[in-house]
Amino acid sequence: MRNKNIIHPSADELIYEIRKIVEIGNKIEKTGLKIVWENIGDPIAKGEIVPRWMKEIVADAVLNNNTSFGYSPTRGLLAAREYIARERNLENGVQITSDDILFFNGLGDAISTIYSFLNKSARIIGPSPAYSTHSSAEAVHAGSQQLTYLLDPKNNWQPDINDLRQKLIKHPEITGILIVDPGNPTGAVYPLEVTRQIVALAEEFDLFIIADEIYANLCYGGASHKSLALMIGGVPAISMRGISKEFPWPGSRCGWIEFYNREKDPLFARYAKTIVDAKMLEVCATTLPQMVLPKIMSDARYRPHLAERNAAYWKKSQLAYSIFSEITGLTVNKTFGAFYMAAIFNQGALREGQSLKPANSLAGEIIKPLVDSPNLDKRFVYYLLASKGVCVVPLSSGFNSDLFGFRITLLEPDLDLFEKTMITIAEAVKEYLAS
Ligand SMILES: Cc1ncc(COP(=O)(O)O)c(C=O)c1O
Repeated sequence: MRNKNIIHPSADELIYEIRKIVEIGNKIEKTGLKIVWENIGDPIAKGEIVPRWMKEIVADAVLNNNTSFGYSPTRGLLAAREYIARERNLENGVQITSDDILFFNGLGDAISTIYSFLNKSARIIGPSPAYSTHSSAEAVHAGSQQLTYLLDPKNNWQPDINDLRQKLIKHPEITGILIVDPGNPTGAVYPLEVTRQIVALAEEFDLFIIADEIYANLCYGGASHKSLALMIGGVPAISMRGISKEFPWPGSRCGWIEFYNREKDPLFARYAKTIVDAKMLEVCATTLPQMVLPKIMSDARYRPHLAERNAAYWKKSQLAYSIFSEITGLTVNKTFGAFYMAAIFNQGALREGQSLKPANSLAGEIIKPLVDSPNLDKRFVYYLLASKGVCVVPLSSGFNSDLFGFRITLLEPDLDLFEKTMITIAEAVKEYLAS
């Protein structure tokens, strides 16, 4: 290569363990071991069926509205943005207009854009453990690992506010705080007071907030999500929302951001304009999902549809908790939002040399280079895959965490299969810890 410098300085930060593990799982499946995929948060892949009425609304737009095949305005279709702004304003928090909303090709696209167009020296502190698309994108933008504050497994995965405060004092380069609520991978939902405290810190240290609220309407067990819009006051912020999990329609690649209090800070306003300008270079986001969004969300069947799904997640959340909370050496919390549960190995429970017998010798060969990892949870995860055929994600490498553990999903629609899978994992944990 004439120019030796074609590698991006942050190339090594681009790791997405949630999908990477699939390559290994696929190889193991070819050895004859059937794999149960518990790694990815795609309700459709796990067999959830989109209701027919929703499909009919999409079909109608495709068949009867030729403009659904066209480009849309850069910010997004006006009707969709007006609908979202109206709904947000009804919550009686910060008031926004359609101009404060910007559509993207899924939140993955939005996440990549908001960090890419932030000055390299400005850091966004994020939770740990965290959804890795945020932590990786932030690390790529800054050229070093994301600074993190702790979510405390001993306190239902709530943010450790004192840890956050100490990091803000220590790192003047921090310009913004990321909140993911409801949480991935924790399944935690923050009480009003917690978000209020984070907003107060942002105010005190003159920071802006980014809140990923993609799971806002997926709460259960008596919990309800408290929108950032309600508590943000005058602090500049970006809220991130989407339909991937909610409709669910992850293949639509449709998400949006909402700017709050742009006008309160000229620097934040300029940053927001940069993000809109960047989207303009890309032209626009996918038109069809924006076109059907107001019709689907305002349909009388929408809330009951969500309620039914949430009831099913709550059932599985309780079941998984009852199975995992019995295991000595493991810490789990009840989850109240999103559709995940993160289990932590207690200090000292994992040791080098622990193993599970692979289901066959070929599977054993496939995982051999991977179980040599210093991340002890990663070793467990690959042994689990090769031995029992269950694919989960390690917390350390999958979710930017110093804790060792793994994440499961609550997505399996077949309750018997779900219970069987959870029992298989639980038995494997016991066997592994005793080995
Ligand atoms: C917290 C969080 N934000 C964003 C996304 C990405 O969503 P999208 O499908 O809109 O790209 C996910 C996907 O798992 C997620 O868990």
